Amino acid sequence: MKVLVTGAAGFIGSHTVDVLAAEGHQVLGIDSFRTGRLENLKQALSGGSFELVEADITGSPILSRLVETWRPRAIIHLAGLVSVVESIAEQELNYSLNVHATHLVAQAARVEGVERVVFASSAAVYGRVAQQPIAESAPKNPLSPYGWAKLASEALLFSAAQSSAYTAQCLRYFNVYGSRQDPSSPYSGVLSIFAQRAIAGQPLTLFGTGEQTRDFIHVSDIAKANVLAATCPLGASHVLNICTGKAVTLLEILDVLRTRFANLTTRHQTAREADIDHSLGDAQTSLQVLGFKASVPLREGLDDLLSLGL
Ligand code: UD1
Repeated sequence: MKVLVTGAAGFIGSHTVDVLAAEGHQVLGIDSFRTGRLENLKQALSGGSFELVEADITGSPILSRLVETWRPRAIIHLAGLVSVVESIAEQELNYSLNVHATHLVAQAARVEGVERVVFASSAAVYGRVAQQPIAESAPKNPLSPYGWAKLASEALLFSAAQSSAYTAQCLRYFNVYGSRQDPSSPYSGVLSIFAQRAIAGQPLTLFGTGEQTRDFIHVSDIAKANVLAATCPLGASHVLNICTGKAVTLLEILDVLRTRFANLTTRHQTAREADIDHSLGDAQTSLQVLGFKASVPLREGLDDLLSLGL
């Protein structure tokens, strides 16, 4: 199948391209290289089924032209502004990269008769939710422009799908970790930061009690879900949590890391402003709709991260 991937050189995009290529699909990737990196695509570029175009999909009619000429059956739309903190400081950019870009994807798919659009949404659409695990129908109270933009994008994709041949599959990823995630910012995912600091022999900072829980999902499981959502038979549009359905505390993460690094040290700081205590996804709908089940155990995923020697 011909699949177009936006944000192909990013953390999630490059893993998705690798899975598509391994399954024998023909892949066209687009990336502006604002945050994506060419080295993430080393494996894909060495094979014969992947082509790459460097372009900002919001900057010109490039996306609609590529869809018109290359004629993908599915688009996996992963390009976007990924930093929640940046979405607060740069609200125009958040609108352009996280809302307007999705509008352009939806319209190109509608006009050119694409059959499927898969979208990288986020658990950030939920905000603070009392009832755990969080089902797709839970109240949506995003705490950032990033979360609101993801929610708006879902609406745009559903809206255009009503007058299109495509179905929209909006995947709400929970806390994603794994190789190719940039650990350099203090707002990177906690597991990349912990892994990088543990390897460097630096103390880990624990914000709050460490009793907070997250549903950590390995990037290879996310890539698998993206490919399933693009290729498996589906008659309708959906929003789906992509998560493990297992809650883990930061204290449990530290226990695992201590078995790998005997001299691990931690320093405690007060909880981050607007931090969420618990975030656990309900994995039932994606199991029923896609047959998706996360398969990488946390210990294995952490070992993978640590083996990179970051
Ligand atoms: C994610 C976003 C965050 C956003 C929030 C709400 C990422 C990487 N983070 O945060 O920007 O505001 O969703 O939608 O996407 N922690 C430490 N030490 C560290 C780093 C983090 O203790 O060095 C703690 C945090 O305070 C938090 C937990 O680890 O309690 C997880 O942090 P993080 O990986 O940033 O994810 P979220 O909090 O889910």
